[in-house]
Amino acid sequence: MLKKKEKYIVAVVGATGAVGNEMISILEERNFPVEQLRLFASERSEGKTLDFHGNAIKVETLKEDVFDGIDIALFSAGGDRSKQFAPAAAEAGCVVIDNSSAWRMDPEVPLVVPEVNPQDLQWHKGIIANPNCSTIQMVLPLKPIHDDAKIKRVIVTTFQSVSGTGKNAMDELHEQTAAFLNFKDIKPSVYPHQIAFNCLPHIDSFLENGYTKEEMKMINETRKILGDDSIRITATTVRVPVFKCHAESINIETEKKLSAIDVRALLSATDGILVYDAPDKNIYPLPIDVAGKDETYVGRIREDNSVENGLNIWVVADNLRKGAALNAVQIAEKLIAG
Ligand SMILES: NC(=O)c1ccc[n+]([C@@H]2O[C@H](COP(=O)([O-])OP(=O)(O)OC[C@H]3O[C@@H](n4cnc5c(N)ncnc54)[C@H](OP(=O)(O)O)[C@@H]3O)[C@@H](O)[C@H]2O)c1
Repeated sequence: MLKKKEKYIVAVVGATGAVGNEMISILEERNFPVEQLRLFASERSEGKTLDFHGNAIKVETLKEDVFDGIDIALFSAGGDRSKQFAPAAAEAGCVVIDNSSAWRMDPEVPLVVPEVNPQDLQWHKGIIANPNCSTIQMVLPLKPIHDDAKIKRVIVTTFQSVSGTGKNAMDELHEQTAAFLNFKDIKPSVYPHQIAFNCLPHIDSFLENGYTKEEMKMINETRKILGDDSIRITATTVRVPVFKCHAESINIETEKKLSAIDVRALLSATDGILVYDAPDKNIYPLPIDVAGKDETYVGRIREDNSVENGLNIWVVADNLRKGAALNAVQIAEKLIAG
């Protein structure tokens, strides 16, 4: 459990990565009470420094014995590192907020979106999991709809940016776009196919049931966060040539009838959501507008007339911020607020 202090010793594990970088700037932006910031990455980053509040902080090599004295560690260095190092960190008395999928479905580990299930923070045992980026932006609008009208079924299709795969994938989209426009050969390396000017219905690996791991994460994590295994959910996740922000088309069937006006009112009153919906003025959420924003944007709110109680919404959020780093820092803020 975290001892109350004026300022905390905070670690970012995976500090040199896409999410790690965002964590450092969000800690700074939100003026998190940091007494000392420790930065960890692989041996490859030994000797690098990163800026925090104008100070150059040395990146250290991650090892099991580095966590003594650290109060909070934000992990974003991949699932294998989380499995290996998070228990050692928790053992040393540090609270781990983990961005990987390593601990999300562990019944002993709370999976938290602070606006949706902050109460689950109360039973953590040293490790708290941050949900998958596409799950976070979906459960935000689902929660008030579920509380009001009980969701029976969800059909979601995602359009996910390359930053969701990390910094190498962002470089690959840059390079392939330049190569394509200069009539040069394209050699995919991060993805199995060309990502520039393409859409890949394939995120993470395929499972025996024909779904990808990403699709099953959305299904299982949503049920865990909403605390309701009865919700039927199906997902198709697609990687698109966009740098930042995931977009989702979500179709929802509820027990009680909700009109589009009801949904607009419900979502407008929900923390962390911005209703951005005036199609007559060409206003709807776009990845290029939402990049760098904290809110989850919702538009194209309309009734689905093909079923009795159906709704369609279009949801866009910055996957590196609300989908990862911001959600992790918000969890840390809730913890220190007690
Ligand atoms: N990108 C997203 O939208 C997103 C959203 C939610 C969750 N996540 C999760 O966050 C994690 C990081 O994602 P990312 O997109 O930031 O990836 P990334 O840009 O590839 O960064 C990976 C980070 O992990 C570090 N790392 C790799 N191997 C390591 C090792 N053996 N020991 C210590 N550090 C090591 C890297 O350090 P070096 O620079 O030294 O290699 C780098 O700092 C993943 O678990 C991912 O699933 C990502």
